[in-house]
Amino acid sequence: MSPVLRPRPSGGSRILGVGSRQPDRVVTNAELCARLDTSDEWIRQRVGISERRFADSDESLIDMAVQAGKNALADAGVSPESVDTVIVPNCSMQAQIPNAAARVAHRIGIPDAGAFDLNAGCSGFCYGLAVASDLVRAASARYVLVIGAEKLTDFVDPRDRTTAVIFADGAGAALVGASGTTEIGPVVWGSAGEQAERLRLNENRYIQQAGNTIFRWAITRMPAAAVQALDAVGLTPADMDVLLPHQANLRIIKATEEALRTQGMRDDVIVADDIKYSGNTSAASIPIAFDHLRKESRVKSGDIVVAVAAGAGLTYAGQVFVCP
Ligand SMILES: CC(C)(COP(=O)(O)OP(=O)(O)OC[C@H]1O[C@@H](n2cnc3c(N)ncnc32)[C@H](O)[C@@H]1OP(=O)(O)O)[C@@H](O)C(=O)NCCC(=O)NCCS
Repeated sequence: MSPVLRPRPSGGSRILGVGSRQPDRVVTNAELCARLDTSDEWIRQRVGISERRFADSDESLIDMAVQAGKNALADAGVSPESVDTVIVPNCSMQAQIPNAAARVAHRIGIPDAGAFDLNAGCSGFCYGLAVASDLVRAASARYVLVIGAEKLTDFVDPRDRTTAVIFADGAGAALVGASGTTEIGPVVWGSAGEQAERLRLNENRYIQQAGNTIFRWAITRMPAAAVQALDAVGLTPADMDVLLPHQANLRIIKATEEALRTQGMRDDVIVADDIKYSGNTSAASIPIAFDHLRKESRVKSGDIVVAVAAGAGLTYAGQVFVCP
């Protein structure tokens, strides 16, 4: 007879708190236009960005992650000592060894944390939230801090107008814990590794992307993943209150929004458009945008939120969660 294992009773999971950290330095389109062959009009029309935040040389990815994580814990009212797992989705650590998560946990004051980085490009936060939720549901962890953090300017050629106007720096975090009810739905995710070369580092370790091709892929994958994520929790687009897409391009966000409207999404749904002031912060964009929506009181506790992302890999992911 096989032995009977007795793990702690498991149930649902939920987001308990959210926080973010963006660098202080605001970089306007005008500043970039002064040194690049571009225009405010092109950037606003083609990407939707008015300004973004760049970290100075003395602020690292880890510094931003620590502050975002502390802010999420304060929002949740949970002490660092209670947290047992830290996940840092990112794709912009300068060195692969050591990882970011263990140092982030240490600096926040989380003792003896299970700590790992997770690289799924711009889909990283949705992947991390899925892992956190399932760790909690399986009773492998009690409190998991997921911190999407990026210092993308380390990997952007400041002379390349096709990337320098888009990518930016920042960190956003969510604390996940147990719940009597299911407040984070199953993840819907996938990848297209045959298209890996379309978004990669070039020989100078600068980001290079086939923007137009990825654009077309994203505007079909993201709405499809959103609908599948809703279906996975027995809902349809008519039931959602908030659309929280990865902030890659305002035109991708609008296309995702329009596709979901044709499938019943209501006119009063709040659509995150944080890219206007934050740029594209890859794995950090969703939690930063969500933190801003909550701080601006554009969303309320209990709202049905659909997070969805697509990016390097290529990867995509999405899930439904209840706004804390
Ligand atoms: C990158 C992106 C903004 C480019 O916009 P686009 O409308 O597709 O533009 P294209 O790449 O087709 O380029 C159109 C023209 O604009 C030019 N251009 C590119 N960047 C420019 C800039 N900053 N200013 C002015 N012109 C620019 C190109 O050189 C090209 O010129 P050409 O026609 O003379 O060759 C857009 O494709 C995008 O957002 N793609 C998705 C990226 C993404 O989601 N990545 C996933 C990870 S976040």
